[in-house]
Amino acid sequence: MNKILKNLIKKHTILLIIEIILIGVNIYLLTVPSKMLGQIIDFLYDISLNKQSIMKATYILLGICVLILISRVVWKMIDAKISRNIVKELRDRLFEKMLKTDVAKIQTLKNGDIMSHFVRDINQVRKFLSNAITLSVRFVLNFAIVAYTMIQSTNIKLTIVGLCPIVISIILILLTIKKLERNYNEARVKFTELSEYVQESTDSIRTTKAYVGEKNQYDEFMNKNTDLKNIDLKVITSETMLGIYTNMGIGLGMGMAILFGSNMVLNNQITVGDFVAFNGYMLILQQPIRWIPWMIKHFKKYQVSYKRLDDMFKMKEEKVLIDSSNSEKLKGDIEINNLTYKYPESSENVLENINISIKSGKSLGIIGVIGSGKTTLMNLLLKLYKVPNGNIFIDGRDINEIQTDTIRNNICYITQDNFLFSTSLKENINLFRDIYDEDEIMESTKSSMIYDEIKEMSDGINTIIGEKGIDLSGGQKQRVVISRAFLNDSSILIFDDTFSALDNRTEESLLRNIRRLTENKTCIIISNRISDIKHCDEIVVLEHGKIVERGIHRDLLALKNKYYEFYKNQAEKSRGRMSILD
Ligand SMILES: Nc1ncnc2c1ncn2[C@@H]1O[C@H](COP(=O)(O)OP(=O)(O)O)[C@@H](O)[C@H]1O
Ligand SMILES: [Mg+2]
Repeated sequence: MNKILKNLIKKHTILLIIEIILIGVNIYLLTVPSKMLGQIIDFLYDISLNKQSIMKATYILLGICVLILISRVVWKMIDAKISRNIVKELRDRLFEKMLKTDVAKIQTLKNGDIMSHFVRDINQVRKFLSNAITLSVRFVLNFAIVAYTMIQSTNIKLTIVGLCPIVISIILILLTIKKLERNYNEARVKFTELSEYVQESTDSIRTTKAYVGEKNQYDEFMNKNTDLKNIDLKVITSETMLGIYTNMGIGLGMGMAILFGSNMVLNNQITVGDFVAFNGYMLILQQPIRWIPWMIKHFKKYQVSYKRLDDMFKMKEEKVLIDSSNSEKLKGDIEINNLTYKYPESSENVLENINISIKSGKSLGIIGVIGSGKTTLMNLLLKLYKVPNGNIFIDGRDINEIQTDTIRNNICYITQDNFLFSTSLKENINLFRDIYDEDEIMESTKSSMIYDEIKEMSDGINTIIGEKGIDLSGGQKQRVVISRAFLNDSSILIFDDTFSALDNRTEESLLRNIRRLTENKTCIIISNRISDIKHCDEIVVLEHGKIVERGIHRDLLALKNKYYEFYKNQAEKSRGRMSILD
């Protein structure tokens, strides 16, 4: 993260320098009208000077005002440009980071968190950084330039008297900051506690009502809410104190300047013009002091957002080159040896002692109830999660030694979630691979048995999903997703529970097409339906992550055990249509 900030500053060095110079010029120009006003007043006392001198001074004054305006507009524009670039750059990097991050890690984040990184945290960082740079520069330059002008054109003693209360108030403000920081932290913790409590209560509302727990929940909420109110009050008190110190310094400074200044005029130590000019400088000086409370408040918020973004940027990345043009081909022999696996966050094994061998051109069927570990096995094959060396081999090579994008380019994985992007059917089928033309895509939809339905849609293959109320049925979605398998020339095809929403006739034809397609490929079919896997060269039955039976359809039936149970259950459900199963 720090690297990113440094890069951002490096990238905008020239703009930042121009901006700082413009701020300096702007502040200097701001002091000029006060000085000139003082001079004009002194001219008025000096009748030897003619009207022309006053007119001349007035024109210069007007010119200066225009210059102040121009320098301010330009510096503000530069500021806007830099801050928008910061937002864009951070969002780009964050999105890239998300794509590159390990699936295991991404899954630990909540959706709401990711969105708040993209919106709130980045904006907070932008808000503080862009203002912090200009405000600190303005603060320092303002103090330096104005104090210098005061000493130069008025009087050093008066300058010290006017500045003293301001310096004292700055010290008081700095002392209050520590307390305020503590209160901010506590308020944040209390707020998070309350939000989590509300979230949990909403999620568990049925249970709460069923067990008449409303009163308990309400009391607990009241306590938490009261804690939050109390700490919020403390925050507001500290913030108010900051405001009081700020105004006190400014007010006292002005008072002292008027008191001592007028005395000096009476004693002829300074002119009336000097006195007026001095008060003008004091007004300019006040401005940046008023920003201190703002800076403190936003600095705290910035720190929190910065830390959250930093944690994201530190997440472990997969070794996948996003824009690689890797075209390495794999044959498709898969060998799984003694694979035992548990997810990083869980304590129990999801897979135990799995041994599977599939040669290219052969097919494997996996059957097992929900949660038996079928999808996990496929996730490991795709390197979505890390397995130790020596467990999974493709073409005789350990998958840890094969580039991740090579593996994913060579495996066509049709997932069980049927996720479709809100774009055209065409793009959903060729998914990130724009090498296929419309005819090829249409051809693939014939094999996946969705051709006729797409033809009937008004925009055909270019129909946009989700637009004009176009929503596909579960079965249609499955077939659209399956079309990808017929388009791709991957050597390994995986169908993970992808036929569940299809009617029997469609399923039969589709499976026939798949068998034709995968004659020379490696094919894995995961399903709970016997009809989907009965033709496979080998079938394994998974139970609690273990292979409990294996063989071909007929032999497994003959065992009259686990596989037979699935068979029997389904035969009962589809009584009268036994032929599908045999
Ligand atoms: N990302 C994950 N982190 C932790 N546990 C998981 C994760 N994904 C799945 N599991 C657990 O692993 C087990 C197997 O899940 P899964 O492979 O999806 O089963 P199946 O595909 O056979 O239904 C389940 O108990 C599930 O809760
Ligand atoms: Mg699954």
